[in-house]
Amino acid sequence: MVRGRRLGLGVNVDHVATIRQARLTDYPDPVAAALAAERGGASGITIHLREDRRHIQDRDVEGLLAAVSTKVNLEMAATPDIVELACRLRPADCCLVPEKRQELTTEGGLSVAGNEARLEPVIARLDAAGIRTSLFIDPDQAEVEAAASVGAPVVELHTGSYAEAGTARSQAELERVANAATLAATRGLAVNGGHGLTLDNVGRVAAIAEMEELNIGHSIVARALMVGIEEATREMLAACLSARGSAAAGAL
Ligand code: PXP
Repeated sequence: MVRGRRLGLGVNVDHVATIRQARLTDYPDPVAAALAAERGGASGITIHLREDRRHIQDRDVEGLLAAVSTKVNLEMAATPDIVELACRLRPADCCLVPEKRQELTTEGGLSVAGNEARLEPVIARLDAAGIRTSLFIDPDQAEVEAAASVGAPVVELHTGSYAEAGTARSQAELERVANAATLAATRGLAVNGGHGLTLDNVGRVAAIAEMEELNIGHSIVARALMVGIEEATREMLAACLSARGSAAAGAL
C-alpha cells in the first residue's frame, strides 16, 4: 500500500458554462466560479473543451489560464484541432478523453489498448509543449498497461461504474478502481480519478492511497446552487480528506 500521497481536488466548472450557454448570456462566469473554488481549497480547475463547444468556449480556456493561481486541467479529445489549441495555450495538464457528440457526458474511458500508435505522438507532442498528459481510462488492467506503454505520465481512472453501481455491485466496482490504481502506481504512473463522484460516494475513492487528484464537477456545481461554489468545494474537500485520514489511520 502506498501511504502519504497528498490528495488534491480538481473542480470542474463546465456546468457553470452550461448555464450561461443555455441563454447565451455573459453570466455566470466560469472564471469567477474557478476563483471561488480555489478559495474553497481546490488544487486545480478542470474544464472540458468539447468539439461542439456546448459549454466551455475557447475564450474561457484563455480566461481561466490567465486567472487561476492553481492549475488548469484541460479535458479534450485527441483530435488535431484541439491538440493544436492545447499546444498553443499550454495548460499545466491535459486529460485525453473519448468524445461523442450525442453523449450527455463522457461515457466510457479511452480505448488506449489498440490505439497506441495514434495516442503516442499526441502525448509526445503535448509533452514537448510542457503539458502533462493524463489518459482517462476505465479501471481495467489492460488499459493501465497500455497507458504505461504509450508514455503517459498520469491516468485518470473512470469512477462512473462505481458511482452508478447499486449496493450489490458497489464494492466490486470499487475494488476494480483500487486494483487499477495499485497497478498504475506500480508502473510509475500518477493516479487521478473522477466521474460521478458525490459527497455520499467520494469517501471510498478518496481512501484509495494511490489517488493523487479527484476531478469532480456536476455534484459540486449542483450543490453550489444551495451554498455557493466556495462552500461546495470546501465540503467536498473535507469529505475527501476525512476519508483519506481515516484510511491512513486504518479505520476504513
Ligand atoms: N473527469 C473526466 C475525465 C470527465 O470527463 C468528467 C466529466 O466532465 C469529470 C471528471 C467530472 O465528472 P462529474 O461531472 O460527474 O463530477
